[in-house]
Amino acid sequence: MVSQKTIEIVKATAPILKEKGEEITRRMYQLTFAERPDYKRGFENTWMQHLDGGGQAHKLSAAVYAYATHIDRLDELATAVNRIAHRHVETRILPEQYPLIGEKLLQAMKDVLQDAATDEVIAAWAEAYEALSNIFIQTEKAIYEQEDQALTERLAKTNAV
Ligand code: HEM
Repeated sequence: MVSQKTIEIVKATAPILKEKGEEITRRMYQLTFAERPDYKRGFENTWMQHLDGGGQAHKLSAAVYAYATHIDRLDELATAVNRIAHRHVETRILPEQYPLIGEKLLQAMKDVLQDAATDEVIAAWAEAYEALSNIFIQTEKAIYEQEDQALTERLAKTNAV
């Protein structure tokens, strides 16, 4: 759980994220892919088909905005989190990929928001991102385990192992 102070700061950034969110997430992907071109794998519906990333930057910015406005009532985001987690599992996203995305998201906030990205805002978003990534990592772990279980049962039926 994040601190009360973080909740307040993150909620206060919602209006600016509504306005500049897509610019921030576009910048985030630009910074990420410059360092890790291999992270483009999995984006077959987006960067692989549309040169500008199609709707992915918009989808991510909408998710970040929804998180900012619901950070104190995350249960309302459960359906969306579940859908995104399934998409992440389909594209084989792993826990170790989350920190880089977080680092580049914060850097993108600094680049786009400039003076509005105070140290306090960045520290609050660092805490908030970590909390959100833990939710995704746990949800995705459970989906991977279900898939592993189903695979084990299928293999057992064929006596393959
Ligand atoms: C807290 C962090 C994250 C959030 C909020 C987030 C959010 C999203 C959202 C909203 C979608 C669209 C789902 C849909 O189409 O229904 C998505 C898809 C995706 N995300 Fe994430 N994501 C996060 C972390 C990551 C990380 C660490 C990676 C690793 C590189 C990643 C890679 C992808 C990929 C490959 C897709 C599928 C894109 C496609 O359909 O072409 N995401 N994510």
